[in-house]
Amino acid sequence: MITAVFKMALVGLLTLLTAGVASAATPMRNIMYLTGQHPFVPDTSLSSPITHAAMAFMSPDLFNREEGNSTWPLFMPVHEARSKFSSGTQMLVAIGGWGDSAGFDTGACTDESRAKFARNVAAMVDETGADGVDIDWEYPAGNGEDWKKIPNEARAWQIAAYPKFLAEIRSALGPDKVMSAAVPGLPHDMIAFTPETVPQIMDSLDFLNVMAYDLMNRRDNVTKHHTGIEASLTAVRAYMENGAAADKINLGFAFYAKYFHTEHEPCVNNPIGCPTGPLEDPETGVDLGRAGSFAWRDDVPQDVRASFDRAKTKGEYDQVGGGYYYWDEAEAIWWTFDTPMAVAKKFPLIVEKEKLGGVFAWGLGEDAPKWVHLRALNAGMRSLTSRKEEL
Ligand SMILES: *[C@@H]1O[C@H](CO)[C@@H](O)[C@H](O)[C@H]1NC(C)=O
Ligand SMILES: *[C@@H]1O[C@H](CO)[C@@H](O)[C@H](O)[C@H]1NC(C)=O
Repeated sequence: MITAVFKMALVGLLTLLTAGVASAATPMRNIMYLTGQHPFVPDTSLSSPITHAAMAFMSPDLFNREEGNSTWPLFMPVHEARSKFSSGTQMLVAIGGWGDSAGFDTGACTDESRAKFARNVAAMVDETGADGVDIDWEYPAGNGEDWKKIPNEARAWQIAAYPKFLAEIRSALGPDKVMSAAVPGLPHDMIAFTPETVPQIMDSLDFLNVMAYDLMNRRDNVTKHHTGIEASLTAVRAYMENGAAADKINLGFAFYAKYFHTEHEPCVNNPIGCPTGPLEDPETGVDLGRAGSFAWRDDVPQDVRASFDRAKTKGEYDQVGGGYYYWDEAEAIWWTFDTPMAVAKKFPLIVEKEKLGGVFAWGLGEDAPKWVHLRALNAGMRSLTSRKEEL
């Protein structure tokens, strides 16, 4: 009897200990895209919490070439980027990006093309000295930049091909390299992510970067938060419902501001969800110049500078949709962006609540030179870690 109780206590203690070791061995991921547009890295005090840096972008076209070509054009050599981060930071090469998906259409097409693409990816990782890759196909099975030119029906085959394509790359890379994918944040863009395919997709990946930003874009016709809490929850839950484990999901943060010209009268009393009028040409999908964005590192465009100054000081946090916003009545402009306070709120309300495995931001250098959003993100990560230790 005593022995049995003692045994149970011992087992309980061991379980606790093992759980403690496991969580200590798998720290939360803090991933930063390092972009060619803003290849800036802060000093160690701010960069040391970064677990992975994903260099964006390398073109997918390169991996359809004949094998044996060792030219891998990227904005900076991997070893040079690595030297700017702490020694433990994993360096990934991000392949693709918005508007550069033709190489994926070609590469994912057949068994042969997939195998060739995959062997080239493995060769690239080997020759550049990267720790892995992030597959940033925007998006498999349609709704990408050329959606008006190539109808989604013409890409329906990619729903089945995408998991096979990832599996082939994983097999060429082997189990020790890091492999992730950046995936859409809006349910209507998740065409290739079904209850059938998501488990297959996750078999190949270490983690999924859910792009929970640009959730208002120029295909919309009413004002929304582009990286709000409610829409971010919808995004991460969609992947979990289709079979992705929560701890394999990273929540995306945007280190940039977005704005949209709107109608005037209908927005006066109710600026959230009010009509913008057309933002892109309904025939061609071409941008009508009524929407814009800029990184925190960039100069604010001259024509919206006065409006942005008002947005910074007079904006409010919407407790319902969860986002900082400002509707500028003087110029009828909708502003949507994360302040440091809005960044902080996402940790308890999304990352902790949904038990996600980490976060990422587009992108690191976009927050230079003040790094206020990165500071808020690092602080959010610390708050989760200390809460875990208390438990
Ligand atoms: C290697 O690839 C580069 C870039 O795609 C190309 O310009 C070059 O001609 C290729 N070299 C060979 C020998 O095919
Ligand atoms: C927005 O577009 C949808 C369909 O594309 C349409 O049904 C709706 O009336 C539009 N809303 C406004 C405010 O223009």
